[in-house]
This record gives sequence, structure tokens and C-alpha cells, in this order.
Amino acid sequence: MNKKAPKLSIDVGLLAKNARGYILPSVLAPLFVIAEVVLEVLIPREMGFLVDEGIASGNMTAVWTHGGIMLAYAFLALISGALSARFAAVASMGFAKNLRAAMFDKIQSFSFANVDKFSTGSLVTRLTTDVTFIRNSYAMCIRVAFRAPLMFIMSIAVSVSINYRIALIFIVVAPIMGIALVAIGMLAFPLFRKMFSRFDKMNSAVQENLIGIRVVKAFVKEDYETEKFRNAAEAVRQTQIKAERLLVYGQPAMQFIMFACMVAVVFMGGREIINVSSDMTIGDLTSFITYVNQILMSLLMVAMIFVNLVISSASAARATEVLKEKPSIDDSYATAGLQVEDGSVAFRNVSFSYSASEGKNVVSGLDLEIASGEVMGIIGGTGSAKSTLVQLIPRLYDVSGGAVEVGGRNVREYPVANLRASVAMVLQKNVLFSGTIRDNLKWGDETASDEELMHVCRAACADEFIERFPDGLDTDLGQGGVNLSGGQKQRLCIARALLKKPKIMILDDSTSAVDTVTDAKIRAALKEFFGGMTVIIIAQRVSSVMDADRILVLDGGKIAGCGSHKELFESSRIYREVCISQHKGADDENA
Ligand SMILES: Nc1ncnc2c1ncn2[C@@H]1O[C@H](COP(=O)(O)OP(=O)(O)O)[C@@H](O)[C@H]1O
Ligand SMILES: [Mg+2]
Repeated sequence: MNKKAPKLSIDVGLLAKNARGYILPSVLAPLFVIAEVVLEVLIPREMGFLVDEGIASGNMTAVWTHGGIMLAYAFLALISGALSARFAAVASMGFAKNLRAAMFDKIQSFSFANVDKFSTGSLVTRLTTDVTFIRNSYAMCIRVAFRAPLMFIMSIAVSVSINYRIALIFIVVAPIMGIALVAIGMLAFPLFRKMFSRFDKMNSAVQENLIGIRVVKAFVKEDYETEKFRNAAEAVRQTQIKAERLLVYGQPAMQFIMFACMVAVVFMGGREIINVSSDMTIGDLTSFITYVNQILMSLLMVAMIFVNLVISSASAARATEVLKEKPSIDDSYATAGLQVEDGSVAFRNVSFSYSASEGKNVVSGLDLEIASGEVMGIIGGTGSAKSTLVQLIPRLYDVSGGAVEVGGRNVREYPVANLRASVAMVLQKNVLFSGTIRDNLKWGDETASDEELMHVCRAACADEFIERFPDGLDTDLGQGGVNLSGGQKQRLCIARALLKKPKIMILDDSTSAVDTVTDAKIRAALKEFFGGMTVIIIAQRVSSVMDADRILVLDGGKIAGCGSHKELFESSRIYREVCISQHKGADDENA
């Protein structure tokens, strides 16, 4: 029984802050609702007068007067209602916009570890579906949440003033209904929470499929993917049905109670009218029947608010969780304004684990020094922690033990922005954004001139294909750079990173899709154009790292060897085996 349910907390203050800029409509909406309710409660009373003073006594003037007043009330109620609905819509949409922006803003501050924790699918659900639910509740809170209780209280008050004996019916029925509604809500709440976690799974399935749609098609896995999605969607349906069933049964039950109440009112009221000793009139009874309607309708509305709040409290908790998440990488140890002096890197007894709770170290007890300006190759099997190791340098993740130093200082001493300005990294899974080639390159440096752009493109050997495009730098890339080949994308990513003029350049398998000749040209150009820059090259091909100053051989998160190609070839069995196995397939290497 040690499985801890995730703590559920809603920070109302934090969420409510997002109403800023929409306070006025948020206040006007309930004010107009109050006006609407007062008018709606006055109308049945006027109806009663019309019946008693007009119809029953055959007085046509009274019919006209009370009829006119009723119409005027109804018209004013219409206007108030419309205005209140409009203000509520304006306020709630603005609130939702602010909330989404705040969450998005927060997500931008997340480290990789934070994103891993939520999963991107879940973040998408939170920003879309959850915010929609919260918005609905917000609109309810400033409109219906005023309307329903006020209508309820006023209708009861007027009923009591007409005839307290008959009004007793409501006073008995209302609490019973209230308790039933609360019970339904309590039962539904856990189901809604479950529904949202299943929504997350479904969204993750969609997202993964869309990102990998080419792979899916290449492996003819459409059926498998469809099946996977079906299951996720079915899981959503099942919890949804369970949750809705509870709530749906509430409605006809309410209807039944309403008609039962009407019968009781007519029965008791009729008896009093026939019994001449009472002062109850037919007009009173007419008003009363309308109040039955209003009272029970407002109770139903309370139920609806309740259901809505139940659904959205799960959403509110999930939004709060995003807003309150502490970015695992922050500037709390940083010295303001500290800049990276040179491109030296040191790992001092570094250990790292992706999940603190499981504690399985991917890197353990690693020591390594890289001098400024050195070209360091890293080679090792998949899963040997090559990517993990280099991601520690720009603090994409933080070490679990030991320290990483850049320019002779612990990376935590630098403001993250300064550190990352000096450490450029071309990730293994790289991303280009929709827009032109120029837009994408300028991520590296917004102020760069076309000349500078072409300079880095030459270094990355991207100039040859860019010049062949009719639009050159203005070529539109489409979403995620779909118009480019893998090798072209990689070269653009390298150019983009070079534009930052980094002190340390990390290439994580960044030339895997580039032919060996171009690969060698890029490495030569890096040296020629950017001498003095520390370069760390992770590669699968020995040929990509062979001419590096030193090569690090990684095996299972530990150093299995480090030295020049020649030294390693003699001393490291693993390295020798890799060289020989790759040599078989590529006879041109020693040519
Ligand atoms: N985001 C992550 N969360 C959890 N484990 C991860 C994550 N990324 C990588 N790993 C694990 O860390 C180990 C090293 O991965 P990685 O550094 O990517 O290896 P390489 O780049 O050498 O192929 C692998 O066992 C992998 O499963
Ligand atoms: Mg890798």
C-alpha cells in the first residue's frame, strides 16, 4: 500500500491572476446577472396580480397595466441577460488566453528533465483541453454561480411571503436534492481525473505518430499504429461513459422531482383556494407554479455548476502543476553577468541518472579534461551515454554527482543564457522550424548579415545546395524542414550553431546523413574558419573522429579509452575492433 497517489493541489490565486486585464467584464457579468434575476422573479408576481385583479374581476385596464409591466420586465431581463452573457464570454476567453500564455511561458523555462516528467502529450492536453474546461468554469463562476443561488433564494423568499405553508414543500425537497448532487459529484471526481490521464495517453499516441509518420509508413506499421490509437481512444471512451453516466442520471431524476413538486403545490394550493377560510387566490397559485419551476431550475443549475467545477478541478490541478513546476535548471547558483572565458571543459567525478527516484546511473564516476581549442572525438556503442555526457556541458541536464566545468568554472556559476551562448550543440535529433532558411539560421544570431550567413553555410558545406535553390536563403522549409534531405538538414543545423560563434561546439552524430567526403570537408572547414574553438564530435564512423586530437571511447557510461587514433588503435581492444569492423565495409579509408 505504498503507492502514493499524486498530490492534487489547486492554486486558485495563481490561476485567478490570469483574469488581469479582464477584471471589468468579470465584475459586470455578475452585476447584470443580478439585475436579470430580480426581473425574472418579479415577472411571476405580476402574473399573479394580472390574474387576480384583471381576469378574475373582469378588469381589462388591470390586465393591460400588469401585462405591460410584465413585458417591460421581460425586455429588461433579456437585455441584462444578453449583456451578462457577453461580458462573461469576453472575460472567460481573455482569462483562458492569459492562462495559456502563462503556461506556455512556464514551459519555455522547463529543462529537458521537466519535459520528460510531464511528457509532451500531457503538456499539450493541459494547454488545450484542460484550459477549455477551466474557462467554462470561469464563465460559470461569474454568471451562473451568481444567477442560480440568487434565483433560488429570491424565489423561495417570495413564495414564503405568498404562502409559507406551501413553500414548506421546497424547504423539505431542496436539501435532499442538494445532498444527492454533492454525492454524485464526489463519485464522479476520481473518474474525471482518470479520464484526463487517458487523454494524455491518447494525445501522446497521436503526437508520436505524427512526428514519426515517415517511419510508420516505411515500416508499414499503419495498422499497428491505428490499433494503438484505437485502444487509447477506447480507454478514454470507457472512463468518459462511466463518469457521464453518473451525471446523466441526475437530470431525469431532477425532472421527476420537479413535476412531483408541482403536483404537490397544485394539490395543496387548490385545497386552500377551495377552502374559503384561506386568503390564497388563483393568482397566487399561478405565481407559485412558476416559482416551482424557477426554484428547481436554479437547483439544477447549481448541479450543473457543481459538475463543471468537478470536471475542471481536475483540470485546474493539472494547470497548477505546470505553473508551479520548478525548472530543474535555474540560475540560483549563478554569478550575474559571468561570461565563459575559454573553451576548456572538465568532468570531475561526474555521475548522472535520468530519474532521481530510480537512481540507475547512466554515467558514473567519470573524469575527463578537454583543453580549449582541442578537437575531441567520442565514439561508443548506442546507449553508451555519449549524448547524455555532452548534454551536461550546456546544462540541458544537471549532473547527479560531481561537477562539470567550462572555462575553469562550474557550469552552475554561469547564468544559463551565457553558458548556452558559448556552448553550441547540434543535437542528434535536430529540429528546423517552418519558415525560410534565413529565418532558421538566424536563430543562431538575429543580427547576422547575409554575408555572415553564407560564411557559416560554407563552413558547414550548406552553401552548395542553398545556392542551387532558386530562392537561395529565402527558400521556404515547410513544417520541420520537410523539404530538405537528412544531410541537408544536418548541415543547416551545423551552420545555425556556428552562427553563435561558440567557444565550444558539440556535434552529436550531426553528420551521420552526410557523405564521408563532405563530412571531412566540414571538419576541415571548422578548423580553418574557427580555429581556437573547442570541438566535440560524437560519431558512429571512425573516419569522422580519426583525425581528432584525442578520441574518447565510451562503454556503458564509463571511459574505456582515451587518446589519439594511433594510441587507441594500439592500446584499446574495443577501438581496434570498431576500426576493423568498419574498415571491412569501407575500403576507401586508407586509400
Ligand atoms: N530522456 C531519457 N530518459 C531516460 N533515460 C534516457 C533518456 N535518454 C537516454 N536515456 C538512457 O540513457 C542511456 C544512454 O543514452 P544516450 O546517452 O542517448 O546514449 P548514446 O548517445 O551513446 O546512444 C541509455 O540507456 C538510454 O536508454
Ligand atoms: Mg546519442
